[in-house]
Amino acid sequence: MPSEIVDLRSDTVTRPGPEMRRVMAEAEVGDDVFGEDPTVNALEEEMAAFFEKEAALFVASGTMANQVSLKAHTQPGDEVVAHPQAHIVRAESAAGAAISGVQFRMVGNPDGTLDVSEVEAVLQTGDDPHFAPTRLICLENTHNFAGGRIIPMENIEALRELALRRGVAMHLDGARLLNACVAQDLRPAKVAAAFDSVTLCFSKGLGAPVGSIVAGEAGFIRRCRRYRKMFGGAMRQAGILAAAARYAMDRHVARLAEDHANARRLAEGLAAHPHISLPRGMPDTNLVFFAVDHPQVTLEQLVEKLKQQRVLVIGMNGRVARAVTHLDVSPEQIERTMECIHEALPR
Ligand SMILES: Cc1ncc(COP(=O)(O)O)c(C=O)c1O
Repeated sequence: MPSEIVDLRSDTVTRPGPEMRRVMAEAEVGDDVFGEDPTVNALEEEMAAFFEKEAALFVASGTMANQVSLKAHTQPGDEVVAHPQAHIVRAESAAGAAISGVQFRMVGNPDGTLDVSEVEAVLQTGDDPHFAPTRLICLENTHNFAGGRIIPMENIEALRELALRRGVAMHLDGARLLNACVAQDLRPAKVAAAFDSVTLCFSKGLGAPVGSIVAGEAGFIRRCRRYRKMFGGAMRQAGILAAAARYAMDRHVARLAEDHANARRLAEGLAAHPHISLPRGMPDTNLVFFAVDHPQVTLEQLVEKLKQQRVLVIGMNGRVARAVTHLDVSPEQIERTMECIHEALPR
């Protein structure tokens, strides 16, 4: 019998288990566009309290969470400061330009942090008509393309001090914020306190099938709700999905530490291979990026050989591959992955 698939392409590939499906099937539902879905309402109230914000909105995806937030924070022609490798900049199909009409001013270090002095140098808060006014600073924590890096609280708080001083809002793409919080034993509300808006995805490490949340002030969330409708993302009996999100928040947060341990185990195995390097260093959380320098086997060939062994990773730009640990990856599967890598990539 062929061995089971080890799917390390993303933490989005998890499938709801029987207990989550049962909770979904039994969810009380209503029409959420009328504000009548009790399970969505409960999730939104719980998530607002979780982040210690006034209100929260359930949306279809991490992209929608970012894009309704961008739209609610800005006017066309505004400038938004963000990292050049931020998901909101490079992986949302230019939605910031197409939907909100904003211009990104990109500043950032390879580890996902933004230097306060560099941000300060690009802020435009005067009234010179040549310049697009800076309305928003976006951070991503953990930072996906920086290797699942945690943005340290000192960096966040220093940027917050600058933003407050200059009257600029702050948005957090917290798709994987709980990975950062679990890894640092940090209260999510403490991180959220530094931001005007914060997002979180239920459909990544938390293992729910669909959905993200945006939290912030009540007026901001009212605007987001309107834009969610405008973008076609208002759902009806969405309580079925919200039930999975509530279940995930209950059961799947503390266990993210297991994913981090598996990622570290994998990274240590990879780092010990003479033809593999870790361009983003050892993982802080659940994302491992690795490069191959081998006389016979390219990175693309390695990805293909692994696929033949039913071990899936993602090759990015032919230079680096990404392996992500999650709910459906066990320590034994990490061992099997390393065995397959040793087989495919002779020393
Ligand atoms: C940091 C970050 N933000 C936002 C998103 C978008 O989430 P979705 O795929 O649910 O639109 C992702 C997806 O991978 C992400 O990694």
